[in-house]
Amino acid sequence: MPTRGNWLFSLAEGARRDTVLVGGLMSGTSADAVDAALVELAGHGRGTRVREVAFASRLYPPDVRAGLFDLFAGRGSVREVCALNVAVAETFACAALDAMARANLLPSDVLVWGSHGQTVWHTPPSARDGIAGTLQIGSPAVIAARTGIPVVSDFRAADMALGGEGAPLVPYFDWLLLTDRQKSRAVQNIGGIANVTYLPPNATASDVLAFDTGPGNALMDAAVAVLTGGRERFDRDGARASRGTVDPTLLRRWLEHPYFALEPPKSTGRELFGVAFAVERVAEAHSRGLSDDDILATLAALTAESLADAYRRFLVSRGRVDEVIVAGGGAKNPFLMRLFRDALASRGLTPEFRSPEDFGLRAASKEAVAFALLARETVAGVCGNLPSVTGASRPAILGSITPANGAPMPTETSL
Ligand SMILES: Nc1ncnc2c1ncn2[C@@H]1O[C@H](COP(=O)(O)OP(=O)(O)O)[C@@H](O)[C@H]1O
Ligand SMILES: [Mg+2]
Repeated sequence: MPTRGNWLFSLAEGARRDTVLVGGLMSGTSADAVDAALVELAGHGRGTRVREVAFASRLYPPDVRAGLFDLFAGRGSVREVCALNVAVAETFACAALDAMARANLLPSDVLVWGSHGQTVWHTPPSARDGIAGTLQIGSPAVIAARTGIPVVSDFRAADMALGGEGAPLVPYFDWLLLTDRQKSRAVQNIGGIANVTYLPPNATASDVLAFDTGPGNALMDAAVAVLTGGRERFDRDGARASRGTVDPTLLRRWLEHPYFALEPPKSTGRELFGVAFAVERVAEAHSRGLSDDDILATLAALTAESLADAYRRFLVSRGRVDEVIVAGGGAKNPFLMRLFRDALASRGLTPEFRSPEDFGLRAASKEAVAFALLARETVAGVCGNLPSVTGASRPAILGSITPANGAPMPTETSL
């Protein structure tokens, strides 16, 4: 029988080196694109520094994306889950190979990929909806085989097995890289769902508070798709919403959704704030005579006000909010960003807005980079969840490790 030496030992040794190249693969609730980031990590723990070496993004083929939206809606058979598990992984592998090609890297240059996978269902304990579980698909064996690099995947399961929400997990990264000695920071990600990490000055792991605030772009995206008959997928630069007027009555009603008042730890997804919810809101708004642009403005306001409300309800009691760092696709929507600032100001909060670029990160790649770091921690035997955030009973080493099984066979074009 062929053997491949002690690959697991070599992996752990590699993770302990002071400088190491690792990759992160991410597709969030938007399912807009698969992001691949290759990063050099220097140092360990709170001394960790990251440098992005390459980045690539890949769209899902249209049939794969449509299949995913079937699963998000609770449709789809086990057979489809089985097929999509492989198809999603093929797109992840393409993004990974694109990033490697951009930096001229060989499989032997990269220690490990951290692959978040594509969430298709998330029932956290806070939802109190039967057995708590979460499912991210995108077969790690496929990614490992195509790239010739081991893969850490299924990051959320260990935290959930310990009673945690399994989410959010990026706060560990935020805590290591963005904690300031003097200033308190809110690190705000606005993806399909939005989540915030609150970092008091000099925070220890147990000082960190983080949770999903609710919808980010998902409802706006779904509404645009419905209102344009599927021709458009999102409101670029908030152009449509900025021509509309927010309906204060509808906004107030929508903000009464029980998720917003729920105490952290909490996490959510498309199960609550998905296409069905958006379609209902669009119908409700049409029956009040709102124009399409008004609907998009009111949905943008729902995101902005729910963020600011979450700060008022859950962050302010912990301390000041000196700075807000915004990442994720929502940061590119100037209309949404203006509403967010205004919503904070109307609650007496006037933090300085900083961009991830101020800290050597990028809004578009931050989450992929975070999963690269989380994968390094896993192979180094370091716990990557924050129990103060997720509610897990203890810290855990996250994920499952899939071996590379050697470099991939050269393709015909490269022979
Ligand atoms: N120029 C833009 N204007 C408005 N919205 C944008 C822009 N660019 C990206 N977005 C929004 O960001 C979303 C993707 O954000 P992302 O952070 O990738 O989310 P996720 O982590 O859920 O995949 C898109 O679906 C879109 O709603
Ligand atoms: Mg995305």
